[in-house]
Amino acid sequence: MLITSEDIEKIIITIQNHSPYDFSGYSIKSFTRRIEKATFDFKLSIDEIIKKIKTDEIFTEKLAKGITVNTTELFRDPKVWHTLRYRVLNKFSENRRINIWHAGSSTGQEVYSMLILLNEMGLLEKANVFASDINTDVLEVAKKGVYNYRFNMEYFDNFNKVIRENPFNYDDYLDVPYSKYFNIEKEKDTISIKDFLKRKVVWLKHDLVNQSNIFDTKFDLILCRNVLIYFNNELQEKVIETFYNSLFRKGVLIIGIHESIIGLMANKFNKSGFVYTKKE
Ligand SMILES: C[S@@+](CC[C@H](N)C(=O)[O-])C[C@H]1O[C@@H](n2cnc3c(N)ncnc32)[C@H](O)[C@@H]1O
Repeated sequence: MLITSEDIEKIIITIQNHSPYDFSGYSIKSFTRRIEKATFDFKLSIDEIIKKIKTDEIFTEKLAKGITVNTTELFRDPKVWHTLRYRVLNKFSENRRINIWHAGSSTGQEVYSMLILLNEMGLLEKANVFASDINTDVLEVAKKGVYNYRFNMEYFDNFNKVIRENPFNYDDYLDVPYSKYFNIEKEKDTISIKDFLKRKVVWLKHDLVNQSNIFDTKFDLILCRNVLIYFNNELQEKVIETFYNSLFRKGVLIIGIHESIIGLMANKFNKSGFVYTKKE
């Protein structure tokens, strides 16, 4: 089906007028692809979609959830986790507390990766971990912490690279058993996160487009990876400002390896790769 820019504009405005969501700052390319997919999934034309948004709240909620891309994995991009371990979290080791916010946490794998790493570094006890997403379906999956085993075998490769191996010294191998953090039930095809990790997280629905910091605290570390790529420049700048205002002095913001801070906000951080440290 050919979707025109007028169709997209009409959908965005109708969603704005009939729901709490505002996709006007999302990248048009990705938004259009998701609407294209919605026409197949719901077997509806653009006009029918617009009509339903006006009259059917449940439909609009489903459509909005389908617009977000929720791809994630445990220890996604292992080199990011090496950086976190040896260049970021180690600097917080003397802190009395470490406040961490995962914004756009999806189904929780990134959050559990962080908790495992903190535990291996002896920092779990002093960490306060908050995780948020716009999509309540993914937050429900995250809270349960149960993932498909066969489909996610590469999680263990990543775990080995980050938790067992030392990238600076390959003789230094720590045989951390998977059972320390996961219940693996191959016959049920599941990997479940252990309860002591799940208990550490406060999960909240939060929309980066129209909400600022709702957590009643500032943060030492904010991770918002692979979320900004779906936003246009203006929205990216607004969201980065929210993060800037939510960080403690010298707090650190981690974004995706293919993302960068642009515009005026770039001057407010010291940048080293995907690690942005709030300037004094
Ligand atoms: C590709 S996932 C990234 C997950 C994880 N951070 C990672 O890098 O593996 C992007 C997530 O951002 C969330 N998201 C999209 N728009 C959002 C918004 N306006 N506010 C909060 N989260 C949003 C999506 O629901 C999705 O779960």
